[in-house]
Amino acid sequence: PRCIWLSRHGESVYNVEKKIGGDSSLSARGFQYASKLPEIVRESAGDVNLTVWTSTLCRTQQTAESLPYKQLQWKALDELDAGVCDGMTYEEIEVKYPDDFKARDDDKYEYRYPGGESYRDVVIRLEPIIMELERQENILIVTHQAVLRCIYAYFMNVPQEESPWMSIPLHTLIKLEPRAYGTEVTRIKADI
Ligand code: F6P
Repeated sequence: PRCIWLSRHGESVYNVEKKIGGDSSLSARGFQYASKLPEIVRESAGDVNLTVWTSTLCRTQQTAESLPYKQLQWKALDELDAGVCDGMTYEEIEVKYPDDFKARDDDKYEYRYPGGESYRDVVIRLEPIIMELERQENILIVTHQAVLRCIYAYFMNVPQEESPWMSIPLHTLIKLEPRAYGTEVTRIKADI
């Protein structure tokens, strides 16, 4: 039976600096995850032939670099666009845009960053990805926190309004096995 594997990119320089968005490179720890990922995937997937989907941002491609499978980049897998807040820390956003900071906390699913996106916007742009995923065989998706929350909620049958709060930690491979009665989940945490 077919499976879908999900992973966030390895820790990025922006993750370390607590900045959101951007297109930064992986940190040293992030590169460690990237170098362990082929072994972790192999342990979970065995010899099945899979295809790797990444976003167009460099941190996902660096994470997927050593994986011995065909790779495809999707713009639709890029991280939620934080608009004017791109590159800021949450503390900086709270100081510079206090109303926005509060509005986001009040309704994280509907809140749209000025010049950017909401979770709802991401769910809509992911529709073609979900459709393609339903048609495909084994796919490993290496992408970003907000995007993975939406994909995960879809396969777990969780209402999309709850996706902004789902926990998708770094350096963890998630295996989804769609079954007649629901999706079976296995989480494999990398030892780094
Ligand atoms: O901090 C990493 C990150 O992927 C940011 O680029 C993005 O804005 C954020 O997570 C999404 O998480 P949240 O919706 O909880 O702010």
